[in-house]
Amino acid sequence: MSPLKVVVGITGGIAAYKAVGVVRALVLGGHDVHVVPTDGALRFVGRPTLEAISRNPVHTDLYEGVAEVRHVAIGQSADLIVIAPATANAIAKLATGLADDLLGNTVLASEAPVVIAPAMHTEMWRHPATQANIAILRSRGVTVVGPAVGPLTGVDSGPGRMEEPDVIVAAALDRVAASGRRDLAGRRVVVTAGGTREPLDPVRFLGNRSSGKQGVAIAEAARSRGADVMLIAANLEIAEPAGCDIRRVSTALELQQAVTDAAKGADVVVMAAAVADYRPAAVSESKIKKDAGDSGLTLELVRNPDILAGLGRSPHDGTLLIGFAAETESDDEQLLALGRAKREAKGADLFVVNRVGWSEGFASDENRIVVIGRNGEIVTRVHGTKMSVADDIIDVVVSEMKTAAVAAPTTKEHEPT
Ligand code: C5P
Repeated sequence: MSPLKVVVGITGGIAAYKAVGVVRALVLGGHDVHVVPTDGALRFVGRPTLEAISRNPVHTDLYEGVAEVRHVAIGQSADLIVIAPATANAIAKLATGLADDLLGNTVLASEAPVVIAPAMHTEMWRHPATQANIAILRSRGVTVVGPAVGPLTGVDSGPGRMEEPDVIVAAALDRVAASGRRDLAGRRVVVTAGGTREPLDPVRFLGNRSSGKQGVAIAEAARSRGADVMLIAANLEIAEPAGCDIRRVSTALELQQAVTDAAKGADVVVMAAAVADYRPAAVSESKIKKDAGDSGLTLELVRNPDILAGLGRSPHDGTLLIGFAAETESDDEQLLALGRAKREAKGADLFVVNRVGWSEGFASDENRIVVIGRNGEIVTRVHGTKMSVADDIIDVVVSEMKTAAVAAPTTKEHEPT
C-alpha cells in the first residue's frame, strides 16, 4: 500500500496510552501520521511522546494556526482517520457532528474513511445511548473495531476494552483498501451468521459456540462493496451491522425457512452460520425437572434438514452457493479432505474451511481459512482479522462472478452429510 496521510484522533480514556502503539505501527508502516488528541487525552499521554512517536507536530487548539485554516486543513488532506480510543463522549459527539475541538472539526472537514476503536466500561458501552450513537456512525459508514472483551481498568471485566493496536491498524488499512471498491453494486447477497439454538424446554437449548463474527464481517464487506445484503442472524453475540436487511432466526428450521425464501433471486448465498445437525425430538412445554431421570437423562434427537445441501440440489442457476466447514482436525490435509468432501456432497460452488477448537475459531477476532473451488482446488488461503478474511472471501466471490462461472443447475441428488 502506498503511504497514507493518517490522522490519529486520541480521546480522553485510560486506553489513550495504547494509542501510542497505533501511532507507532502506522509510522513503521511508512505512513505520515498526524495526531490530534483532545484535551482529555493529553491528561493521559503527553504531547512530547506523541510528537516523538508520530514524528510530526501535535496540535489540539482550534485557535492556533488560524492563518493556515488548520481546523479544516488536517481533515481535508487526510486519507484515513483513526480514533483510538473513542470514549462514549467522543462517540456521542461524532454521532451528533459536534465540532467544539480540533478533532471534531477535522472529522467534519474530511471525506476520508473513519475507523473508531471504542473503549469504556461495559455499562457505558451497553447503554442504549451509546448503542444508538454507534448505530448512527455505522450507518454513515464508520468502521467500528471492537471493543474487545477482557479486563477493564478497575476490577471489572467485560466488553469495553480497546482492541489491540495491531488489530486496529490492520482493520483501518483494510478499510482504506476496500473503500472506493463498489464491485458488488446491484448484487443481492444473502449471508447466514451465528449459531442455531434448538430448544429442549422453555429455558434450555442445545447450541454451539459460534459468535457470528465471521458471518457479520462478510455481510459488512459485501455491503461496503455495494451489495444489497440480507443477513439471516441466528443468535448473534455481537452487534448487528447497519445497512443490511436483518432477519432474526433461532432454530435450524427457522433458518431454513428464511434462507430458502431469501435465496430466490439472490446472486450469492453465504452459509456461514453454524447450524445444529440435530434437534430434540420433543420440546417439553414445562421446565424439565432435575429428578426427571433417576440415574441420568437421555435425550432423543432427530436430524435437522441439511439446508445447504437442500439449496445445492435444487436448481440454483445464477446463484453462487458458499458453504463453511469448521472442523477440529489438526492435520491440514485431513481438514482439506473434509472440506472437499462436504463441498461435493452439498452441491456448493465454494467451501470455506477453517479449524475450530477450544481456543480457536469461534469467538476469536482472527481466522485462518482455505477456500476450496468447484474442482476441489485451493482458490485462496488467508489468515488475518475476520474483517480482512471477509474481504478476501468477497474478492473470490467477485472474481467468480466476473468469469460468470456459476455452476449449471444441479439436479443430482446429494445425501446430506
Ligand atoms: O456438515 P456441516 O455442518 O459441517 O456443514 C457446514 C455447512 O453446512 C455450513 O455452511 C452450514 O451453514 C451448512 N449446514 C446446513 N444445514 C445443516 C448443517 C450445516 O446448511 N443442518
